[in-house]
Amino acid sequence: MSHIGSYEERYKSFNWKQSEEELEYGKNGMYNIGYYCSDRICEKGNGKKLGLIWEGFTGEVKKYSYNDIRVYSNTIAKFLQDTGINVGDRVCLFMDKVPELYLGFIGILKMGGITQPLFSAFGEEALFTRLDDAKTKAIMIQKKHLPKVRRIKDKLPDLTKIIVIDADEAATPQINEIHFWMEKTPKVEKFDIVKVGPEVPSVIHYTSGTTGKPKGAQHAHSSIIAQYITSKWVLDLQTDDIYWCTADPGWVTGTSYGIIGPWALGVTQVVLDAGFGAEKWYAFMQKYKVSMWYSAPTAIRLLMKEGIEAVKKYDLSSLRHLASVGEPLNAEAVVWSEKAFGKMFHDTYWQTETGAMMITNYPGMKIKPGSMGKPFPGITATVLNTKTYEPITSPGMVGLIALKPGWPSMMRSYWNNKTTYDSKFKNGWYICGDRASIDNEGYFWFVGRDDDVINTAGHLVGPFEIESALLEHKAVAESAAVGKPDPVNMEVVKAFIALKPGFEPSGDMELDIMNFIRKKLSPLAMPQEIEFVPSLPKTRSGKIMRRLLRAKEWGEEIGDTSTLEND
Ligand code: PRX
Repeated sequence: MSHIGSYEERYKSFNWKQSEEELEYGKNGMYNIGYYCSDRICEKGNGKKLGLIWEGFTGEVKKYSYNDIRVYSNTIAKFLQDTGINVGDRVCLFMDKVPELYLGFIGILKMGGITQPLFSAFGEEALFTRLDDAKTKAIMIQKKHLPKVRRIKDKLPDLTKIIVIDADEAATPQINEIHFWMEKTPKVEKFDIVKVGPEVPSVIHYTSGTTGKPKGAQHAHSSIIAQYITSKWVLDLQTDDIYWCTADPGWVTGTSYGIIGPWALGVTQVVLDAGFGAEKWYAFMQKYKVSMWYSAPTAIRLLMKEGIEAVKKYDLSSLRHLASVGEPLNAEAVVWSEKAFGKMFHDTYWQTETGAMMITNYPGMKIKPGSMGKPFPGITATVLNTKTYEPITSPGMVGLIALKPGWPSMMRSYWNNKTTYDSKFKNGWYICGDRASIDNEGYFWFVGRDDDVINTAGHLVGPFEIESALLEHKAVAESAAVGKPDPVNMEVVKAFIALKPGFEPSGDMELDIMNFIRKKLSPLAMPQEIEFVPSLPKTRSGKIMRRLLRAKEWGEEIGDTSTLEND
């Protein structure tokens, strides 16, 4: 049994107020996440403790104590204020996993800005959509990503501060560009952290749906209460841990558990800004004696491909606890991890919208490989009948995963899109958009998504964005993007395309289309395969039946298409 206490007892006695008190949240009217992730840790006497050890792809290492985190985030906050960023302005972070990304995140929050982290691999079209929707005022960016912004900035009238964090000293800033070097700017020892209320927006993370543009899930400062307590109880983070979250802060895991949770607990975390590589990862964990590791199923499957022999070359005896998120964690991966590392990966289920873990394999709880576990204490979860939206009471029956609203890290809305936000609630439940069943011991088993969103390597890709990009090609009449099975990434994108009259399918045509969309989409969203078809199956009302195309790819029974037709 873990020191954390039994799951059942915790579940029964839990209330959010206790977590809030433990974090001293709201002390002296302070609710700002930025304070709890840096100043508070220093005030507790841990200013000298390392908060971040960063290693770049060339092997360069940088170390930041909690006092460094406090001072550098102050410096960024002050700089942003001085350049005219106001409370409530959206400030995008568009960088690889460099230290400025982590420290900038805290700095933006400290001055009352709303952080909008975006995955730096996004193409210009994806970037444009998200900056345009959020009416983003400033972007903090590495020079290597600057060309993408330069190509779209004329269409973004609100984007008036393009802050380049690593410009060459001799470079001349173009219009609206400002050069800022975190380490060369005079350090700001004392900064008046803006006293926002607990409900004030803190972070916007964009996530893809089936229809329409990506939606900005908007979180509030009090989300930290949930991120703090789940980091403590589920990731089981303890004072002496060396923690590694492999997620990029362009996605929610990388901020909730790659910044806020661990830093609210004052834990030392390590970051590797060098992509994937099995032995590279093992060497990294050996070097820093990583004890807690939070990763994702695609990475685990890639490690599995390299075999246990690769693991055994390294001393990974420091590993104490492993957890995973983002996609279904197959039972084989759980069993393999026990053989390889002597520990099982603990699956956790949640979403951008929920801001923190919802269904988890709580340490100490019996693990059933392949199951997502049980609701975190403080979370009421069930599966609902797809038609009546009533909870399903018979074990093993598949329904919609639904959560009772009321936990601190739930999104407060979709940015500028209250209608879509409201549509996610039925009968007082928040509907996650996934299907699962619950067994007779209360364990949740993931079945699949309830919409057409593609989950490739743990990243959600909306078919609409891909199809819109394809439709801009002169030869494309209509298209549908669906997920097709892939042994490592779970799904990859496949596009079905019907060409306009006068255009013929060919290898050259495929290449031409691929080249055309490459710049527009992120590598994740790029179709791995294109199939030309004379026309696409549609409902009577003219909607493309992606589910039918998907079912064929997965070799599934298509069943009664009349329900699809009425969609
Ligand atoms: O479909 C579920 C899948 O990822 C979706 C959420 O994706 P996103 O908002 O990008 O956030 C990912 C990181 C929190 C869910 O609706 N998903 C997430 N975790 C799991 C999962 N599917 C199966 N098992 C999981 N543990």
